[in-house]
Amino acid sequence: MAERLPLTDTDRDALVAAARAAREQAAAPYSLFRVGAALLAEDGRVFGGCNVESATFGLTVCAERTAVFKAISEGARRFRAVAVFTGADEPTPPCGACRQVLWDQCRDIEVVMEVENGRRDVTTLAVLLPRAFELEGRS
Ligand code: THU
Repeated sequence: MAERLPLTDTDRDALVAAARAAREQAAAPYSLFRVGAALLAEDGRVFGGCNVESATFGLTVCAERTAVFKAISEGARRFRAVAVFTGADEPTPPCGACRQVLWDQCRDIEVVMEVENGRRDVTTLAVLLPRAFELEGRS
């Protein structure tokens, strides 16, 4: 697979701003932990997502998966990066379920995590999910 170009800091700033804006829509009345995500497609489109919690807690959908499902349902297929924005003290990486779904649809994209106090961490999905499961026959 072709190497993906790393984002510039300006690209990252814009993607984090989109994740921060997406977080405004978070529906998290149970945990009160509000999360925003923004997924950058190769064609330049940005898909925001927030966490949406359920009274049956297990049905909750994380911000990252909301963003992935929005992007896929809008026809995007190739991606460069995802940003995650929370109010934690330290940048928070995607949960295990979201790492798998991100890998399924985006492969090894850049992951930018930022929190309200301005701390930022940048890594890649391959670092967060080494030896990812892949089902043969994916098209
Ligand atoms: N959450 C996300 O939206 N993304 C993650 O990567 C971790 C957790 C949400 C799910 C739930 O609504 C709340 O944060 C607490 O777990």
